Amino acid sequence: MNDRIHNFSAGPSALPTAVMQEMQEDLLSYRGSGMSVMEMSHRGDLFMGIIDEARTRIKRLYGLSDAYEVLFVHGGASLQFAMVPMNFIGEGQTAEYIETGTWSTKAIAEARIQNKGVRVAASSGDQDFTCIPEVKGLSAEAPFVHITTNNTVRGTQWHDLPDTGGVPLIADMSSDILSRPLDTRPFGMIYGGAQKNMGPSGTAVVILRKDMVEKIPHNLPTMLSYRTYVEKESMFNTPATFPIYAISLVTKWLEETVGGLAAMEAVNTRKAEALYALMDEDDFYCGTAAKESRSLMNATFRLRNRELEPLFIEKSLECGLAGLKGHKSVGGIRASIYNAVSEASVEALCTFMDDFRRTNR
Ligand SMILES: Cc1ncc(COP(=O)(O)O)c(C=O)c1O
Repeated sequence: MNDRIHNFSAGPSALPTAVMQEMQEDLLSYRGSGMSVMEMSHRGDLFMGIIDEARTRIKRLYGLSDAYEVLFVHGGASLQFAMVPMNFIGEGQTAEYIETGTWSTKAIAEARIQNKGVRVAASSGDQDFTCIPEVKGLSAEAPFVHITTNNTVRGTQWHDLPDTGGVPLIADMSSDILSRPLDTRPFGMIYGGAQKNMGPSGTAVVILRKDMVEKIPHNLPTMLSYRTYVEKESMFNTPATFPIYAISLVTKWLEETVGGLAAMEAVNTRKAEALYALMDEDDFYCGTAAKESRSLMNATFRLRNRELEPLFIEKSLECGLAGLKGHKSVGGIRASIYNAVSEASVEALCTFMDDFRRTNR
């Protein structure tokens, strides 16, 4: 597998090589069936086994009790931005949103489009979204508090959850789902697009606490109601079969090869610490996120001399390091070091950054 690049793309992103190899082996004939997972009925025993395995492994990894459902919903994380207010902000209610940059801003906008009651309870907008804001004075009457646990564009991450005083937390975890253990008890719902830590794009994983289902109005379009996904076990219509199959393999890799979420967190912490330590050696590289809010998943930085950034990208590609260009809205450099990005890849990046600094000082 020497022709695989070091992939630091923000999403879709690197998948574990062992998982890709298993998919390759299964591709033409899944478990002797003579057909690919892409070609089989989603209602047959083989696929039912696959979706069940994906669900069960996610539940086990997070230690979820039977109070939670694991759903596979179309439309990526962005559709959840619209479905969350549609399903959970009732007449006369005002939900609390914490604004921490691009994706949280989009989630807020989707609630406002529907004329739902929305309050931005805290924002780090006045600090250019370089940190996670302090949260005070949340309403006890709110149907939920919405946060984005990892801010993919800005390179910030929540390290301590806000105290919501029992109001359900709803979290967009697209870019740090399954990257570390989590006390799931405060969460009414967790969601994430699959394409960073779980598999190819095409489905979102939604973890929903069962009591939330009672709050969903009955007059929503069928496919836009989480109740449908609960009642029909994510099979009201044809689910995204191949992505769900990939999730079953990635979660198997997490459990059986990595050893669970605590082990994954240890690896992710070592990768991030190596990268941030190199950045902090001097001011050649300047991290864009406040240190206490730095993400373990997306390390964002600038070069002190910004004119060197195009050269940095060009040379990194020549060295087999891909996907390092920062999001177009902020520029700079971003290294996405999700679960499947190996420590060897991060080491290769650190070596490149060190050499580039020495050559271009
Ligand atoms: C934190 C976060 N939320 C939401 C999204 C949007 O995801 P999707 O493309 O699945 O709608 C992204 C995509 O990068 C993201 O990083």
